[in-house]
Amino acid sequence: MSEHGSNDVRDVVIKYYDGTSRTVTIVDHEVPYPEGKLIVSRTDTKGIITHANQAFVDMSGYSQDELIGQNHYILRHPDMPTVAFTGLWETIEAGNKWHGYVKNLRKDGAYYWVKATVIPNIRNGKVVGYTSVRRKPSRSKISESEALYKTLMEA
Ligand SMILES: Cc1cc2nc3c(=O)[nH]c(=O)nc-3n(C[C@H](O)[C@H](O)[C@H](O)COP(=O)(O)O)c2cc1C
Repeated sequence: MSEHGSNDVRDVVIKYYDGTSRTVTIVDHEVPYPEGKLIVSRTDTKGIITHANQAFVDMSGYSQDELIGQNHYILRHPDMPTVAFTGLWETIEAGNKWHGYVKNLRKDGAYYWVKATVIPNIRNGKVVGYTSVRRKPSRSKISESEALYKTLMEA
């Protein structure tokens, strides 16, 4: 804490599954999920964002233009274990629905927790993309997930 009461700030290099990486400034500050809002996005089969609703724009801190065409991993927080996303992709690529709790990174480096449901969009028996709908998670589920992900990061 500084004399201004600001949160801890650290630079972290995040390595993505596709081999790219970027340095992000992480601020240890949670922005609470807005009451009564649904954060919705759609992606193509590779996880490239094709649609973002206003709640997503507001919460992520990115503009609509910055989000569309980006890989969804721009929201990846370094406290999220890789295995959480391996499970997500295995489930949805097999055509199934996935539920989980995700700590997301905002453009300003702060974070927000979501309760996410990811659904494969199927046309003529083929997965053509994915839709994710997020709701407000309970405080107890956030604490549980925090503890679980910490263990998985250390594993
Ligand atoms: C529809 C959809 C929504 C996603 N939403 C998020 C999200 O909100 N936050 C996140 O970190 N990853 C999200 N992902 C997973 C990312 O595509 C990615 O797998 C993850 O951020 C981990 O990065 P990596 O696969 O490069 O390791 C989503 C994927 C899909 C298909």
